[in-house]
Amino acid sequence: MNITCDPTIFTIFGGAGDLAWRKLIPALYDLSCDGRLPGNLAILVVDIAEIDTEAIKKHLEDGVKKNSRQDHYEKNNWDRFAKKIIYQRGDFTSPETYRNIKGEYEKFKKEWDYHPHIIFYMAVPPTLFSVIPGQLNNAGLSADREHSRLVIEKPIGYSYDSAISLNNYLRSNFNESQIFRIDHYLGKETVQNILALRFANPLFEPIWNRSFVDYVAITVAEELGVEHRGAYYDRAGALRDMVQNHLMQLLCMVAMEPMVSFDADEIRNKKVDTLHAVRVYSHDEVSKYVIRGQYGPGEINGEKVPGYREEQYIAEGSDTETFAALKLYIDNWRWQDVPFYLRTGKRMAAQTSEITVQFRNVPHQSFPKEDMREWHSTRMIITIHPDEGIVLKFQAKRPGPLLKLRPVDMRFSYRESFTRPLPDAYETLLWDVMENDATLFMRADQVEAAWRILMPILEVWADNPPEDFPNYRSGSWGPEAASLLFGSNGQKWPVPVKLQG
Ligand code: BG6
Repeated sequence: MNITCDPTIFTIFGGAGDLAWRKLIPALYDLSCDGRLPGNLAILVVDIAEIDTEAIKKHLEDGVKKNSRQDHYEKNNWDRFAKKIIYQRGDFTSPETYRNIKGEYEKFKKEWDYHPHIIFYMAVPPTLFSVIPGQLNNAGLSADREHSRLVIEKPIGYSYDSAISLNNYLRSNFNESQIFRIDHYLGKETVQNILALRFANPLFEPIWNRSFVDYVAITVAEELGVEHRGAYYDRAGALRDMVQNHLMQLLCMVAMEPMVSFDADEIRNKKVDTLHAVRVYSHDEVSKYVIRGQYGPGEINGEKVPGYREEQYIAEGSDTETFAALKLYIDNWRWQDVPFYLRTGKRMAAQTSEITVQFRNVPHQSFPKEDMREWHSTRMIITIHPDEGIVLKFQAKRPGPLLKLRPVDMRFSYRESFTRPLPDAYETLLWDVMENDATLFMRADQVEAAWRILMPILEVWADNPPEDFPNYRSGSWGPEAASLLFGSNGQKWPVPVKLQG
């Protein structure tokens, strides 16, 4: 594959930490194995850790062995890649650190005889989000709008107001066009494929509206608990950790209006419009439309697991939710009165992410009742995890002399249709940052619009501690109450589909 990126210095603040080890370096390594990195590339790992370049390379190599998507580890590939890594020890609050980065920048500019792009990835705790950009600006490292870029990951604020303050601060140091806010769900192939499905096929869009769709359900369920991230998670909870970002992005992809072009801002405008149309509940409505939960002990894949309150770094008697289910409405011409059910939780019965678009019943049933006992109206399921694909469930006649109907599946599986392995979301996103393509990144107004929807819920929950936590068993589908969101209209949480086997 051709190398298309310009010479680049990829700076990772917090490069000795978990995100770099698990995601960033393995993604860059995978890109390098595919020949998709610039020939002139330096990976500048900046951290406070007392460690030298050789030791950090060893540590990152271990991360690559465990987390890269290559079938097998090739030492030669790693050695070639590792030559690009430079460790720079530095305190993120000290101007000296930034002078040193500038020194590296000038050095490479001379060596490459080219004005390189410089990317600053903040893989650091959120308290540093309001330190590093200012220091970069003071050091003159943010001024070049064409070549300098800042990458930030959630949490982007802790509330609507704090998100606005953070965005204002970021924009006082970098131009909005230089800021890449990552939501790794947008890098997932299946999530991007929603746009292709909807807007590259004339078949679906005409029925993708309130006249034909009964409801939409989005499930992102994890078997994992909080693992070693208790200190962060106990302050965040499911609503901030998953709904504000990943689930809202999925909602936008399913519900947005068609874009006029593939221009980054055009797509982002359409998403923001969708978020602005989501009904914001009053405090009194919250309990009717939103359910929270926290896992207790239970079993996952036959193994006993502790409850949330027994996990490491979790406050005693913590009220943090590990499950959230919401019934949302989008008040616009396309979706008026169509419920969008969203749920996410940790320690659930299965590791699965999928979107179900449930179509309405036929207007008139002409088949005798006894012929259609198994009848179910048409449903499309977009599966994001564990397998990526699309399933269309519709009615067919059972073979035989009698006219009996039964749902059957039409399936598209990425794995079966394409031989090329799917890139990890971070590969896609890091590549896009290097290419200066912001299409898959969140703009400030999008982040703020998502917070606006969640604020009444967060406020009501903060004022009314839950009385029944823990209220679901590990290994279950969450609290019973989540089913009550559907009322008695015959709608319910779809049973997750299996794409393979
Ligand atoms: C992260 C959340 O953003 O997404 C985690 O902080 C969660 O709590 C993870 O486990 C889920 O991502 P994925 O790609 O595994 O579905």
